[in-house]
Amino acid sequence: MADADAAGGREAAKGVSWFELAKADTGRIPDHLVEDHYQFLGSEPLDVARYTSPEFFRREIEQMWPHVWQYAAREEELLNPGDSVVYENAGRSYVLVRQADNSVRAFHNVCLHRGRKLRQRNGRLGELRCPYHAFSWNLDGTLKNIPCRWDFTHLKSEEMSLPEAQVGQWGGYVFVKEAEGGPSLEEYLAPIPSHFERWKPEQCFTTKWAGKVIKANWKTCMEAFMEAYHVIATHPQIMPFTADANSKYDLYSDHVNLMITPFGLTSPHVERRVRDEQWVIDQFLKYNGRVVEPGMTIDVEPGETARQAMGKHNRARFGKLYEADLSDATDSEVQDAYTYNVFPNFSPWGGMGPQVVYRWRPWPDHEHTLMEVRLIQRLRPGEEMQPSIPMHFLQEDENWEGYFGQLGAILDQDMGNIPFVQEGMNCSKTGKLQLGNYQEIRIRHFHQTLDRYLER
Ligand SMILES: [Fe+2]
Repeated sequence: MADADAAGGREAAKGVSWFELAKADTGRIPDHLVEDHYQFLGSEPLDVARYTSPEFFRREIEQMWPHVWQYAAREEELLNPGDSVVYENAGRSYVLVRQADNSVRAFHNVCLHRGRKLRQRNGRLGELRCPYHAFSWNLDGTLKNIPCRWDFTHLKSEEMSLPEAQVGQWGGYVFVKEAEGGPSLEEYLAPIPSHFERWKPEQCFTTKWAGKVIKANWKTCMEAFMEAYHVIATHPQIMPFTADANSKYDLYSDHVNLMITPFGLTSPHVERRVRDEQWVIDQFLKYNGRVVEPGMTIDVEPGETARQAMGKHNRARFGKLYEADLSDATDSEVQDAYTYNVFPNFSPWGGMGPQVVYRWRPWPDHEHTLMEVRLIQRLRPGEEMQPSIPMHFLQEDENWEGYFGQLGAILDQDMGNIPFVQEGMNCSKTGKLQLGNYQEIRIRHFHQTLDRYLER
């Protein structure tokens, strides 16, 4: 299919376009969000071996992970000098340490003596000391002490500093990159920093954080959150107030893409002959846990749409919560899902409401993933940043709803598919997967970037 055909097809299928919606909203959507950054990238099937093959996984570990910027922590996990975070992924372990000058360094978390991990958990440190034989390092990674130094005359102190990874910081997030050289974090994340200027993730603190090991490849898990196409079968209860098929998909660079799913508007899949705007809001209040609080009520006023009513309500509610003037926030920014993905495994949501943050890591092999969901919320003016709560590790028999409420109920519906996607791929006869040209473009985009790393 030609590029123009793909674009025409999606316009015909979607009904009301994002552009029309944005024009009807209260408040002016920033121009960069209205622009179309879709690109047709071909329609070839994907090979299931990308998810099922240990050999493919080994190539990811060797060719991809060392060369990408990985979201390793939030700043509030290591607020003070000496605070440390252990970040582990793809065959590496790092200990991130806040320095006296407030910078952050990331050391390979392995004793240079006999190879024990230096740290197994986060915590405040005075030094990095191996529990096995007490080799120790200063917090800047230089060697501090070797017990019975006379027995190691063959080791030069100046050659015994801990190896380091690159560290980058943006928006309250701390990133590591193992390999030396470019691109810089700023180049890698563009245009995210400019998009998030209005949403201020650097002024946010962690309010909720849970993780769970899922029996599926890390990409299988992640891709369940990269399109709104699955709403019709997986989350039918949100269709009255979720314009799933009106979602906008944008590709910005090899590493960054975006899906905007409009809320407060009924899915084009739903017949609405006898329903009114109050019904839309009532369903929204009942089944959304992200921009709705338990017990919230909203009366739609005559002439008002559900989307406008939710916009008005949340502009006031979030403004009060953050003690901030949000009068210029659009209806969209206080209810829509702005799901950004940063290659390979980081998904920060934009918007004025509490921001959702996803991360997926192989845990530890190609058939298991640690999926994390974090919520961050803006501090009030003058409010002091508090240390982050720790991640709540959900056990196999615990569901997400128990921790996140209504938001978790949605995740539990996703989990109802993910392990069975992996099982299905493991026994696939064709060995192929098919993707939609528009709604699943972010998945194809991800795989094309992955191939660039694997083929280098
Ligand atoms: Fe879902």
